[in-house]
Amino acid sequence: MITDFQLEPLFSASTIAARLTSLAGEIAVQMPPEFVAIAILKGSFVFAADLVRALAARQVNPEVDFMTLASYGTQTVSSGNVRLLRDAEIGVENKHVLLIDDILDSGRTLKFARNHLLARGAKSAKVCVLLDKTSSRQPKPEILADFVGFACPQEFVAGYGMDYAHKCRGLPFVAILCQ
Ligand code: IMP
Ligand code: MG
Repeated sequence: MITDFQLEPLFSASTIAARLTSLAGEIAVQMPPEFVAIAILKGSFVFAADLVRALAARQVNPEVDFMTLASYGTQTVSSGNVRLLRDAEIGVENKHVLLIDDILDSGRTLKFARNHLLARGAKSAKVCVLLDKTSSRQPKPEILADFVGFACPQEFVAGYGMDYAHKCRGLPFVAILCQ
C-alpha cells in the first residue's frame, strides 16, 4: 500500500475534452443508430458522463445504464478475479451495446463484461475506453477496444473518475501516481 504519493499530470482537462469531442464523432458514425451505453462503475463514471453528453451534442442518444464490476481492491495491482457486483437493469436482448470503461489493461474486466452481456442476449457488444494500456503490454490483452481515447503507459494512473484507494476521483485531469 502506497501511503505517500505524488501526481504527475498525464492528460489535462482540456486535452481530454478535445479528445472526447472527436471520440464521440467516431462512435456516432460507427455505432448503429440505436444502442445501449453501459458504463462500468466505478472508474468510468466521469468519462461516461462526459462521453454521453458529447454524443448528445451529435444527436446520438443511447439508452444509458451501469454495471458494477470489481477486480482491484485498494492495491495498485489487479486481483485478476472479476466479480459482478451489480448488473445493468436495462434488458439488452437483441440490442447493440457499447461498453464504456476507464482503462483497458489485461482485458479481463471488459472480456468478462462483454461475455456477460452477450450471454444476456445482446446482439453485439463494442468496447470504448478512455485509456488503453495494451500497446506496450505483454502478454497481449484478452480483448481489444473498438474506441480508444488515449494510449496510456504501463503506470498506475488516477483522476478523472479513476481512484487510488477511493481517492483522486474528482481530479479533472489524469495523472500518474508516483511514489
Ligand atoms: P484489466 O481487467 O486488467 O483490463 O483492468 C482494467 C480495470 O482495472 C479497469 O476497469 C480499471 O478500473 C482498473 N485499472 C487498471 N489500471 C488502473 C490504473 O492505473 N488506475 C486505476 N484503475 C486501474
Ligand atoms: Mg474499473
